[in-house]
Amino acid sequence: MKILFLNGPNLNMLGIREPDIYGKQTYADLERYVRDSCGELGIACEIFQSNHEGELVDAIQRAYQRVDGIVINPAAYTHTSVALLDALKAVGLPAVEVHLSDVSKREDFRQVSYVRLACCKTFAGYGFEGYRLAAEHLQSLANGISKE
Ligand code: DQA
Repeated sequence: MKILFLNGPNLNMLGIREPDIYGKQTYADLERYVRDSCGELGIACEIFQSNHEGELVDAIQRAYQRVDGIVINPAAYTHTSVALLDALKAVGLPAVEVHLSDVSKREDFRQVSYVRLACCKTFAGYGFEGYRLAAEHLQSLANGISKE
């Protein structure tokens, strides 16, 4: 099984940006966490981060027929991007939405998620662990084990 992990704008600034909300660990730490978790789960992974909406759309399109699932933290594009929603719908891959912070407890404008409409599950507020939970969820789906 192979999963594509996508991270949106400003996540490359982890460790520097608003550490009270996103923690002190860096983006390199997040990549290491994802690779280690996937190694333990026996999943192959690709990780991609971009600050540009179109590059994230391109990455989703490239995943078509190449990976078995997508874990996406679209960051601010969560709340604005119909393009990312449409791209996820276009490729039809099982997708899980992840947020480091618990967006449900934050500003009103963060209560809208377009990508969620194309995702089978959301993990928000679990920090790095959300990425592992998302990978486990996709693995269970692929193995035909219902998690719901
Ligand atoms: C985020 C939450 C978003 O609202 C925000 O714009 C981000 C990060 C999170 O991981 O908690 O950049 O996706």
